[in-house]
Amino acid sequence: MNNNPIGVFDSGIGGLTVVKAITEKLPHESIIYLGDTARVPYGTRSKEIITKFALDLAQFLIKRKVKFLVVACNTISAVAYDAIKNSSPVPIIGVITPAVIQASRVSKNGKIGVIGTVGTIKSDTYGKLIRVLNPDAEVYSVACPLFVPLAEEGFANNLISELATQEYLKSLKKAKVDTLILGCTHYPILYKVIQREMGNRVNLVDSSHTTAEMLEKRLKNLKLLGNNTHPKWEFYVTDAPERVYQVAGRFFGEALNGKLKKISLSE
Ligand code: DGL
Repeated sequence: MNNNPIGVFDSGIGGLTVVKAITEKLPHESIIYLGDTARVPYGTRSKEIITKFALDLAQFLIKRKVKFLVVACNTISAVAYDAIKNSSPVPIIGVITPAVIQASRVSKNGKIGVIGTVGTIKSDTYGKLIRVLNPDAEVYSVACPLFVPLAEEGFANNLISELATQEYLKSLKKAKVDTLILGCTHYPILYKVIQREMGNRVNLVDSSHTTAEMLEKRLKNLKLLGNNTHPKWEFYVTDAPERVYQVAGRFFGEALNGKLKKISLSE
């Protein structure tokens, strides 16, 4: 048993979709969330810069005595997971392995689609891991850079998101994937429009839920589960213009009201 908080971090506020899934699955855990809203997006940056930024974020949380680190960002998980793991005194989990295990479990025809940021898709981290679990799998990956701004604008289910979805998912439909990994924190916001475009028979894998499930298993195995009767949720961002508050509400809902605090990473 350990009642220290779980540290969750992301390049921005998209990782709040993962926090939401964790709070639903593990209601007795305290959580400290950190989103690097001053330097988002990471998805178009180089591996070196993403790794440097990610280590800053992990350090901030480690100093606050977290018992576990959750890398709630696909881009960071794809390119900087090992660097974080090697420098972290506490166990860590990313969003990629849980999604890949789930996708391999539900796919019947072995044709798996992956969508994510340019950085995530370029790294082919999803593809490599899928092929480790299932060497016969056919992986089709597509970067969807417009999806992040669409989700942030709240264009979750309108004509613009529909057109972008049609364009990006064309090749995946043609390849007849039966499973599609939503490999970016923001994409669950576009869940409905993506499901409609792919058709109901295609399984969508949302890594926020699978990550929360795997986190629970790891905490149990390591005897780190908490039993806080009044768990504390703290939310920090590195820049907080008005827009961040609005968008964060869209990702997390009412519970966030007034709780988002701006910090400097050198504190
Ligand atoms: N959080 C990032 C991800 O999951 C999306 C936003 C960004 O590009 O930084 O890949």
